[in-house]
This record gives sequence, structure tokens and C-alpha cells, in this order.
Amino acid sequence: MSKGSFAAFLAHLHPRAVPEPAAKVRFTFCLGGLALWMFLLEIVTGLLLVLSYVPSSSAAYESVQTITHAAPYGFFIRNLHYWCGQAMVIFVALHMVRVFVTGSFGPPRSFNWVIGALLLALTLLVDFTGYLLVWDDRGLWAWTIARNLAQTVPLVGSGFATMLFGPSEVTEMVALRLYVWHVILLPLAMTLLVAWHFWRIRKDGGISGPL
Ligand code: HEM
Repeated sequence: MSKGSFAAFLAHLHPRAVPEPAAKVRFTFCLGGLALWMFLLEIVTGLLLVLSYVPSSSAAYESVQTITHAAPYGFFIRNLHYWCGQAMVIFVALHMVRVFVTGSFGPPRSFNWVIGALLLALTLLVDFTGYLLVWDDRGLWAWTIARNLAQTVPLVGSGFATMLFGPSEVTEMVALRLYVWHVILLPLAMTLLVAWHFWRIRKDGGISGPL
């Protein structure tokens, strides 16, 4: 890294001046930031859960019971993961409502609205796949309903359903597919989109002001 680019890197680490109206809590209600905090907590608690979860149709349910009732702090970490996930869905949805109500979705921020909409879809998907990983009756019926719904997509329905939810029989492949979506692919895609979202906020001139 040359001296110039290192200086530019250091300059970027410093906080940028934020216009006073945009910094008012009653403008953003910190909802985007709260969504980010929930996401970070999900990653930390999720990494701890991965240490004891077994992604297999024969052992997943048992491993969740072990986490909840036997693993040290397992009950606390599992609950934190669950409740922060629900809070994240609520914060992301309210953040979207705030952006809409303050008219902050218009140019030059239209593209960031699209990135945000993708983030909302992925937030819902990661929440849903997490619900299925518990591998209890509720989860298996939810998987059946979601898979059947995905199959109704015209022309590509069957392939789409298999790609998202695995084969139609409840096998090891289903457990593995849901696990890989929940633990690797969706969080990775979300991390990249969140970084892009924040980069766009700065490129679009920072947080918008009141209308
Ligand atoms: C994981 C989900 C998300 C995170 C972590 C996130 C985070 C943030 C943060 C921290 C801000 C700065 C201002 C604020 O806090 O309100 C922001 C702004 C923005 N977000 Fe999000 N966001 C998410 C999802 C969404 C969604 C679902 C939409 C809309 C579909 C959206 C659209 C926007 C737009 C247009 C701005 C610029 C708003 C302005 O300048 O006033 N974001 N986001």
C-alpha cells in the first residue's frame, strides 16, 4: 500500500461530518443502526450456536435440546439469538417505514432503497430458515408449506423449490441445505449488501434531511 493510499485509508476511518438535522434521533430513530446491532449480535450468538448444532435430519432436534438444557449458557445464547432475530425483523421493517415517511427513498437514494428492499427479503429468509433448523413439527410443516408455495412459481417452480428448500423428501440433504442457507450463504450475502448500503449512504451525500 503506497503512502498516499494509506493516508486515504486512515482518513476514511474518521467519522464524516453529519448534518445536524440528520443526526437528530427523532429523524432516524436510530432504526438502521439498531438493525445493524441486531445483525452483529446474530452473528456472534450464531457462531456460538454452530459449535453445538448438528445439521442432520436425525440429530438436529436432539442437538437443539442439548443446547437449551445442557450446554453451558446454551439457554441464554439460544434465546438471545432468537429474540435478536425477531427484533431485527421489526427494526428493519420500521426503518423502511421511516425512510418512506421521510421521503428519503427518492433520488439520489433510489438505488439504496433497492439494496434495502433486498436486505429486507434476506432478513425474512434468514429468520425463516432459522425457524426450520429447530427441526420440530412446526418447522417441518412450515418447510412443507413454503416448499409447496415455491413450487407454484410458473415454469421454474420445481427447480426453485429444490434450490431453496432441498428435495421433496425430508432427507439429510434438506437439513444440510437449510443449514448452509442460514449459516453461510444468507449471512454472507447480507454482510456484502450491508457494506454496499453504507457505502451508498456516503456516496449519496450522507443521511437525508427532514422534508
Ligand atoms: C439489514 C437491514 C438494514 C440495515 C442494517 C440498514 C442500515 C441503515 C442505516 C444505519 C442507515 C442510516 C440512517 C438510519 O439509520 O436511518 C440507513 C439508511 C437508509 N436505508 Fe437502510 N438498512 C437496512 C434495510 C433497509 C431497508 C429494508 C430499506 C428500504 C427498502 C432501506 C433503505 C435505506 C435508505 C433509502 C437509506 C437512506 C435514508 C436517508 O438518507 O435518510 N434500508 N440504513
